[in-house]
Amino acid sequence: MTGKRSEWDSNLTFILAMIGSAIGLGNIWRFPNVLYSNGGGSFMIPYIVSLFLLGISFVLVEYAVGFKFKTSLAKILYNIHNKLEPVAWFVLTIVFLITTYYICIVGWDLIYLALSFTKAWGSNPDLFFTQSVLHSTDSIRGIFTIVPTILVSIIIIWSVVWAIIRTNLNDGIGKVSRILLPILCIIVVIFVIYSLTLPGSYIGYTQIFNPDWSALANPNVWLAAFGQIVFSLSLGMAIALTYASYLPEGSKLVDNALIVAFSNSGFEVFNSIGIFSVLGFMAMTSGIPFNELVTEGTGLAFVVFPQAFNTMQTGSILGPIFFLCILFAGITSAIALLEGICYSISEKFDFSREKSATIVSIIGLLISTIFATASGSFILGIFDAFLNNFALLFAVLLECIIFGWIYDFDELINTLNENSRIKVGKLWKTVIRFILPICIAGLWIQGIFSSISQEDSATLAIRTILLAAIIVLPIILTKLPAGNEDYYEN
Ligand code: PHE
Repeated sequence: MTGKRSEWDSNLTFILAMIGSAIGLGNIWRFPNVLYSNGGGSFMIPYIVSLFLLGISFVLVEYAVGFKFKTSLAKILYNIHNKLEPVAWFVLTIVFLITTYYICIVGWDLIYLALSFTKAWGSNPDLFFTQSVLHSTDSIRGIFTIVPTILVSIIIIWSVVWAIIRTNLNDGIGKVSRILLPILCIIVVIFVIYSLTLPGSYIGYTQIFNPDWSALANPNVWLAAFGQIVFSLSLGMAIALTYASYLPEGSKLVDNALIVAFSNSGFEVFNSIGIFSVLGFMAMTSGIPFNELVTEGTGLAFVVFPQAFNTMQTGSILGPIFFLCILFAGITSAIALLEGICYSISEKFDFSREKSATIVSIIGLLISTIFATASGSFILGIFDAFLNNFALLFAVLLECIIFGWIYDFDELINTLNENSRIKVGKLWKTVIRFILPICIAGLWIQGIFSSISQEDSATLAIRTILLAAIIVLPIILTKLPAGNEDYYEN
């Protein structure tokens, strides 16, 4: 039996878990580049507009739905309409597959954390990353060559994540968020303050405050702002919905949503000051133009930053701080990504929390093993582009349609207003019904156009397998009978 429903022991635990879920790799290495390439200081305007109008609006939908139904996504959608259950499994399958590679990146970070104390990446971090760490073949040919170090780090991260999610809500996710998040904040403050003292840091951080107003006329800049908000707040991934379902009666939903959204954005803006300062230092000491140094993702964290730590006397102190920051941010996001699917499995099949967590972690680990091969980073890139830019956006669009149009939206307005000082109304409804779906569709179409190129057959094959997985798995999970007949009762 699944037993008594879990509930957060305090509103603070909920807020910390929510902030932990939102602050992740995206905040640390995606935001600075998005900011820089979309007008610098002036980017804050579309960013803040997207945050308020679209980001917070959708978080509120997830909060209201989770809080009202107090059950898992699969059961909620089944209750809204019994034909909608596959959509829930569709969303959860996508999020689960995203987690399988997200954990691999956290694993890479773990390796770098260990290396950073002695700057063991040597004088050519670029070559070191692709050859010594990834053993990358940059094609599908290396699929049968296991890279042991990466495999070990992936196993470690999966074990940590499993140990957290199998434990009950407050002792697992709750406790870890209460410990890791404050440490993460302290580390980031140290990182930023220290970065500001580096010679040349001004070359970097002045870029953030240097606005290019003409960028505001470019619709792509607005889409980029919206895309960052979707990614950064983890919209539509059933995290906010699941976490809000564990809230006790009387919780102030709108207030909570505002605190979480501001903390998440505050974190990424603040952290980017540190990132830019290090890049400014690097530009000054190496003579490489600043714009050539700004990259995102693994290139920034595992190549440019190690290069910067090499030229810094205190690199073996700032390095571990930086990689520890990514590690903590990654773990608190990974556990959140898995909570939705574990909860849905527990509810549907009447499994204990521990059993669902174990099944999900074992399957997840097996899939992640693909990324521990010499083709790992190649396949990871395909997974990321397909799942994040294509499948997930489609899932968010479906959620907007279901909650905005199929479900009685006024019910959600009542749920939120009953419990909050700040009230929502017609504008919110218009955003969810019209503005948000249009923006998501825009982002989606833009993504499809920018990714159309001559693809090799391996890429097409992997995409086809992923597409089949996100269609077939939801159908199977829907068709499988529930562990308890009560499941089908409203
Ligand atoms: N928002 C988190 C991050 O920025 C979690 C996330 C994971 C979002 C995977 C999208 C995809 O990393």
